[in-house]
Amino acid sequence: MAGSTRSPRKSSVERFSGTARAGAAALAVMIATAAIAVPGFAGSGLAESGLRSYRVVGDAISEPLSEAAGDPVRGRAIVVNRQVGLCLLCHTGPFPEEKFQGNLAPNLAGAGSRWSVEELRLRIVDAGRLNPDTIMPPYYRTAGLTRVAPAFAGKPVLSAAQIEDVVAFLATLRD
Ligand code: HEC
Repeated sequence: MAGSTRSPRKSSVERFSGTARAGAAALAVMIATAAIAVPGFAGSGLAESGLRSYRVVGDAISEPLSEAAGDPVRGRAIVVNRQVGLCLLCHTGPFPEEKFQGNLAPNLAGAGSRWSVEELRLRIVDAGRLNPDTIMPPYYRTAGLTRVAPAFAGKPVLSAAQIEDVVAFLATLRD
């Protein structure tokens, strides 16, 4: 009957448009952050409202952002997730199950050999501190962003605990 074929088709369209909307929102954040100029607060001791403060020493953040140790399994899930980390929009990496990976950024394989945990932490928190022209979004910053979608206003892309999970995972990527 017409009714029994129409309804499954409708629900799959709804599912698709939900995914597309979430993807578009995430992309809006990426595009907004890619457009930021030099952040005006190089230095140490960020205390943005709602964010843990951290201290940048050299090219690294030496203290974890959360009390609980990061979990590499959760970190991997964040990295490959197209709505949460969106890392594979730009990066490739050792993720054989992921068909479409980016080619705008270095391969993440070996990141844990190239960088210490502390260096990785700053690169995820706010890569713009190391390279003001980078297109990599700051995952733990709320100030100095432009054109942020209302749903994301005042929130970092990842929580402090998620940052630690991602860092813990990247540290396992050794050559
Ligand atoms: C919009 C593009 C983009 C996204 C999204 C992005 N990155 Fe990056 N990333 C870059 C670029 C470009 C570089 C190269 C250095 C630079 O420009 O700062 C980089 C550098 C890095 C580095 C250092 C690379 C190396 O080994 O030399 C790591 C680690 C990294 N990114 C991890 C991540 C993770 C994890 C995510 C997701 C949570 C992510 N990136 C999301 C663009 C991106």
